Amino acid sequence: MNGTIKRIGIMTSGGDAPGMNAAIRAVRNACEYFNIECIGIRRGFNGLINGDIFPMQQEKVTHILNRGGTILYTARSQEFMTEEGLNRALGNCKLLGLDGIIAIGGDGTFRGLGVLAEHGVSVVGIPATIDNDISCTDYTIGFDTASNTAVDAIDRLRDTMQSHERCSVVEVMGRNAGHLALYVGLAIGATAVLIPEKKFSFEEDVIDKIRSARLSGKTHFMIIVAEGAASAMEVGKMIHEQLALDPRVTILGHIQRGGTPSARDRVMATRMGYHAVEALVQGKTNRIICAKHGGMMDIDLKEGLAMSKGLDKQQMTVLSAMTGT
Ligand code: F6P
Repeated sequence: MNGTIKRIGIMTSGGDAPGMNAAIRAVRNACEYFNIECIGIRRGFNGLINGDIFPMQQEKVTHILNRGGTILYTARSQEFMTEEGLNRALGNCKLLGLDGIIAIGGDGTFRGLGVLAEHGVSVVGIPATIDNDISCTDYTIGFDTASNTAVDAIDRLRDTMQSHERCSVVEVMGRNAGHLALYVGLAIGATAVLIPEKKFSFEEDVIDKIRSARLSGKTHFMIIVAEGAASAMEVGKMIHEQLALDPRVTILGHIQRGGTPSARDRVMATRMGYHAVEALVQGKTNRIICAKHGGMMDIDLKEGLAMSKGLDKQQMTVLSAMTGT
């Protein structure tokens, strides 16, 4: 079934996401299935540079399917960007006799894999980020759990905002991407949603929406701001100045990155982990695993990184309709 791939490395890199552990487990178990030795690399590319590795035996992945975070730790490695760092990483790939590296992370991780690939290392990327901003895949591990965590927190906020008839400004994560803000905005019935991809007019996209909600009888207002779109504090201040409301501002921050992965994230992570190992076994190299139209496929790393992904148009249309424009 598998003749050429004998040993692979697995690591997590970049911002963590709920479901990364499920993907690690799936990779390890798929390795066992295909008779491949699986080596854990701690702390992402830093671990590859420093030879921070261990044999990934069964007991290492027992009871991790349901755990948030990553047992492999993660980092955004500056050292890997240097010539010396890269050479040490490449040296360790040779020393360890790795026939492939599977990395779980976002676009920064995949760019790092691209550099390894240019130097002849076989790599496969598994998309995991709560931002869901990897262009070639419909889904990235962690998005579902993070959305549900945000929705749960905002539902709690709504209770108190409703009681006091207040305006709430909630900042969700998403430095460059508004997928999470848009999805959460739809899920909680936001009054307005600000996202980094769409230039907004404060007057039209916030003030008019709060005013029209008030005119239609509402007395509490929920404004969702993606962190890359604007500062929630600033938005709160401007609402106060222009509408004489007294908004309460909440920054959900890293809470969104933790917690028990949802069933969807566990299943997607398990499917992607298996597919990543299978791709290597089939002799494929330099691939990104992609969820597409309910199925699983893989795409050339460079091609995948060059793609761009807009926000879901139908979700945007529905949001406009729901927020009254
Ligand atoms: O990439 C995922 C993400 O959670 C972004 O939404 C956020 O801007 C960033 O990571 C935060 O990074 P850090 O954990 O380094 O503060």
